Amino acid sequence: MDFSLSEEHLMIRDAARDFAKNELLPGVIERDNLQKFPTEQVKKMGELGFLGMMVDPKYGGGGMDTISYVIVMEELSKVDASCSVVVSVNNSLVCYGLEAYGNEAQKQKYLTKLATGQSIGAFCLSEPEAGSDATSQRTTAIDKGDHYILNGTKNWITNGGTADFYLVIAQTHKEKKHKGINAFIVEKGWEGFEIGPKEDKLGIRGSDTHTLNFNDVKVPKENRIGEDGFGFKFAMKTLAGGRIGIAAQALGIAAGAYDLAREYSKVRKTFGTEICNHQAIAFKLADMHVEIEAARHLVMKAAWDKDQGNDYTMSGAMAKLYASQVAMDTSVEAVQIHGGNGFVKEYHVERMMRDAKITQIYEGTSEIQKIVISRGLLRD
Ligand code: CAA
Ligand code: FAD
Repeated sequence: MDFSLSEEHLMIRDAARDFAKNELLPGVIERDNLQKFPTEQVKKMGELGFLGMMVDPKYGGGGMDTISYVIVMEELSKVDASCSVVVSVNNSLVCYGLEAYGNEAQKQKYLTKLATGQSIGAFCLSEPEAGSDATSQRTTAIDKGDHYILNGTKNWITNGGTADFYLVIAQTHKEKKHKGINAFIVEKGWEGFEIGPKEDKLGIRGSDTHTLNFNDVKVPKENRIGEDGFGFKFAMKTLAGGRIGIAAQALGIAAGAYDLAREYSKVRKTFGTEICNHQAIAFKLADMHVEIEAARHLVMKAAWDKDQGNDYTMSGAMAKLYASQVAMDTSVEAVQIHGGNGFVKEYHVERMMRDAKITQIYEGTSEIQKIVISRGLLRD
């Protein structure tokens, strides 16, 4: 068993670390305050190859492994989780979904643009009445021969306003329940496709979250992904990998908050000494460090499972469940270690605490991860 990172992985880590420090850190507080999408930063991430990291180079991707991807996700998330969620959705939901299950024509037309960052993607499963209960899809796609007619509402869609291409899950044969669901590629600007206002959020405020409405949108049949009725499996299989990306995001938020708290504890003095010399603070740092290391092992194991061709449904869910709890706990403690300064924007940790919460909600809440894990455990 080898726990060390390869030379290549270290180079990727350093590149992402430098990018986060030089390009994401300046302006991160302002983007959060103003809910400003990181347009320039996303463009640069596309140029660096961060938006299609695991995609085959023949479609414009980086041809990298999942370990590289989680390393980049951790480094970006240490500084700006609003930016890293764009990376996560584009890589592990949209690009992966298309590369694994799209046909050659779909890959040529859409994947190449997405993998190079010329276009941004969105993944549209959630609805007002179908979040955790994802089989209860009410958006309909009626088969009209050479096309489908799409009607319904998707909500909470990340990259909702900025995306060019949308993977939309919809019900075609209601009587077949989850076996009657399909996944489609929908382009921005198609008649009847409306983008609602941007959500005003607690955290990841720079990311772009919208409700989408589909009113008799004509979707050509060639834009259906996979066989008729494959849409729910498509969503579940794609999300299994997506959860590894969000676990890495949670790990990064935790590690970023911990780094700031440790440095602060070495310079802030009370009662004649640096606060790290008070055992209450030193023990907090010890607990944070242990939990972050444990989370990192789970994230790496899930990424390794994916790279090895093992089933990663459970290891991805375990990594997300644990790392998101660590992100929440660590960021709360980081605010505590900063005292009053932790409560103001200038010191970053209050933003990290707000950003941490979403990792327990999206791509399956913590309760849903426990359903996935327990079903996996109890399956014979
Ligand atoms: N891989 C392949 N197939 C899977 C699967 C997986 N990981 N998980 C389930 N399935 C299949 C099942 O085998 C079953 O098919 P068969 O009947 O052919 O066997 C079918 O899907 C239905 O499965 P269940 O009976 O288990 O379905 P369920 O209604 O009990 O729900 C669930 C299961 C795991 C709770 C699922 O609904 C779920 O994951 N909910 C959470 C939804 C979610 O994560 N949404 C995230 C939206 S995207 C997002 O959030 C992005 C972002 O923020 C950035
Ligand atoms: P509900 O399903 O209504 O759950 C409410 C509560 O009940 C939760 O605590 C949940 O864990 C619990 N619960 C529900 N069912 C059970 C059960 N069986 N057992 C135990 N507890 C249960 N979706 C997309 O499709 N694409 C995106 O890009 C996307 N981006 C998002 C970005 C943001 C900022 C947010 C907030 C959400 C995003 N989502 C996206 C939606 C997200 O995936 C859902 O919010 C999430 O899956 C939970 O669904 P819900 O909000 O409907 O909560």
